[in-house]
Amino acid sequence: MPSHDRSFTRGRPRRRRFDDEHDPADDAYVSRSRRRTTGPTPPPRELDGRAGEDVDGPPEGDRWSTWDAADKGPEPRPGWVVTATGAVDTELGVLKTGKEADVHLVRRAEPGETGILMAAKRYRSSEHRMFHRDAGYLQGRRVRRSRETRAMASRTDFGRDLLAGQWARAEFAALSTLWAAGVPVPYPVSVDETEVLLELVGDGDSAAPRLAQLRPDTAELADLWAQLCEALLGLARHGLTHGDLSAFNLLVDDGRLVVIDLPQVVDVVGNPFGPSYLGRDVDRIAEWFAARGLPGATAAREALLADLTAELGITHPGTSHR
Ligand SMILES: Nc1ncnc2c1ncn2[C@@H]1O[C@H](COP(=O)(O)OP(=O)(O)O)[C@@H](O)[C@H]1O
Ligand SMILES: [Mg+2]
Repeated sequence: MPSHDRSFTRGRPRRRRFDDEHDPADDAYVSRSRRRTTGPTPPPRELDGRAGEDVDGPPEGDRWSTWDAADKGPEPRPGWVVTATGAVDTELGVLKTGKEADVHLVRRAEPGETGILMAAKRYRSSEHRMFHRDAGYLQGRRVRRSRETRAMASRTDFGRDLLAGQWARAEFAALSTLWAAGVPVPYPVSVDETEVLLELVGDGDSAAPRLAQLRPDTAELADLWAQLCEALLGLARHGLTHGDLSAFNLLVDDGRLVVIDLPQVVDVVGNPFGPSYLGRDVDRIAEWFAARGLPGATAAREALLADLTAELGITHPGTSHR
């Protein structure tokens, strides 16, 4: 991770509350040299004059842009999205590895151009995944064919790949809706099979820190809380709650709060456990703000819950089932 990761934790051991968040890649940005410099040299007849590259494919280790074949994000599309068919995607490193997905840093550029950086969230398929998200969240989500339903239930490789694809699509759909509604989430560039390509939240060179890594002062805390309330109301306007809200799933980009990690977004009214997911989301994040010293934290939590339940048209948030 970029240097700000370390600077906010210097001198005090980091207490991890969610074990699924612990990963060595949290503490050290894992970059690796561009693969095109390390691959074997192709035989001379496959080369043309362009710096020794294979005429038929992208530079070794890179891939052609997945743009053409992928499902694309909502319009109006931001001007920075690279849509050229001749663009190449280059892997620059890992932002985070997790149980269900790995997030990679990818550059997409036309040859000779600087291009743009994106976050590529790749859901694990087959043997590489764990399934703690797959139970309650899937309540009420329909999958058309029963063969697929059975495969998911029996956790065959086919079923696991389907689930990975479903999570990718669920996250992409949620991000598309929320981005179009002006909720602060990364722009979802595209989804292809198990990979979601996202706007890189950060300064263009590196990813923004998670809220959990920051120690905001009182004024900053109050401002971030206000932004959080606004964002959660934006979700509630669509009948939704995050479903896994924590200070790890909020990024802070130069003071701007951005909500990430939404594959399990919960339909509060449609899902029988919806109200308790809402209660858990609010409790967990309010606790974080209270522990950091948000003035009037208890009243702020109550006010937020009241606003959210009113927006959602439910009478109470349900018992938090942590
Ligand atoms: N769009 C993004 N911009 C910058 N960093 C991101 C982005 N999406 C994810 N990340 C980084 O990757 C980490 C993991 O992403 P997340 O969506 O939370 O997946 P997970 O399911 O592994 O928790 C985040 O905590 C954040 O550091
Ligand atoms: Mg996360």
